[in-house]
Amino acid sequence: MNSPKVRLITTQDGSSSLYLPSLDETYHSTRGALGESIHVYIENGINTLTNTEIKLLEVGFGTGLNALLTYQFALKKQVNVSYHTLEPFPLAKEIYENLGYARAGDEQEIFEKMHAMTKGNQRLTPFFDFHRYHQSLENFSPDLTFDIIYFDAFAPSKQPDIWAKENLSKCLELLAPGGIMVTYCAQGQFKRDLATIGFQVEVLPGGMGKKEMVRARRPA
Ligand SMILES: C[S@@+](CC[C@H](N)C(=O)[O-])C[C@H]1O[C@@H](n2cnc3c(N)ncnc32)[C@H](O)[C@@H]1O
Repeated sequence: MNSPKVRLITTQDGSSSLYLPSLDETYHSTRGALGESIHVYIENGINTLTNTEIKLLEVGFGTGLNALLTYQFALKKQVNVSYHTLEPFPLAKEIYENLGYARAGDEQEIFEKMHAMTKGNQRLTPFFDFHRYHQSLENFSPDLTFDIIYFDAFAPSKQPDIWAKENLSKCLELLAPGGIMVTYCAQGQFKRDLATIGFQVEVLPGGMGKKEMVRARRPA
């Protein structure tokens, strides 16, 4: 399997991320990978749900940072998470083992299992079910719906196709009524497309000094 050719970088909050020269793009905000992921996906995403059984879809597993933060969240809040994540371009071991995201021994083991399994299902702990698809959003057609989607693709200026209206409509269909999609992106055309498709769009303060982020809801 060909892993993307990436370079390890350190972002401004001290957490690591990756730089992908072929797109001239980073996997996270250079202002802080950890800070922005916590702000967008945890605090303004999963933490706003009231269910104790959460079905979650992530578009772009990448470094696994969101998955690890969500695992930590589920453990702390005692909620059950079924984590489904799409990644057509898995990272090589020598990359993910140097990210330094996992803290204790158990966490390291869980993080490595998430990465090593490029497709398949695994109950990682009694409260965290992990489902990984070696697949792109465009080819994904599951027979279930989700309470929350983490839309964490590369920026629209770098990977415009994934932000196409057809994909956003697909995300609306993949959400249960009342379900939410969160993303760091607050580009004007993206917000207009979400509203046209039928999402209720909320613009919130962005993470790590960014002006805005988006939370979009499928009407109940
Ligand atoms: C912004 S980066 C990764 C963010 C990731 N959540 C993290 O914490 O590292 C975007 C990811 O989307 C993946 N990707 C690229 N095209 C995709 C597609 N069509 N469908 C799903 N994921 C895609 C990339 O390989 C990359 O890992």
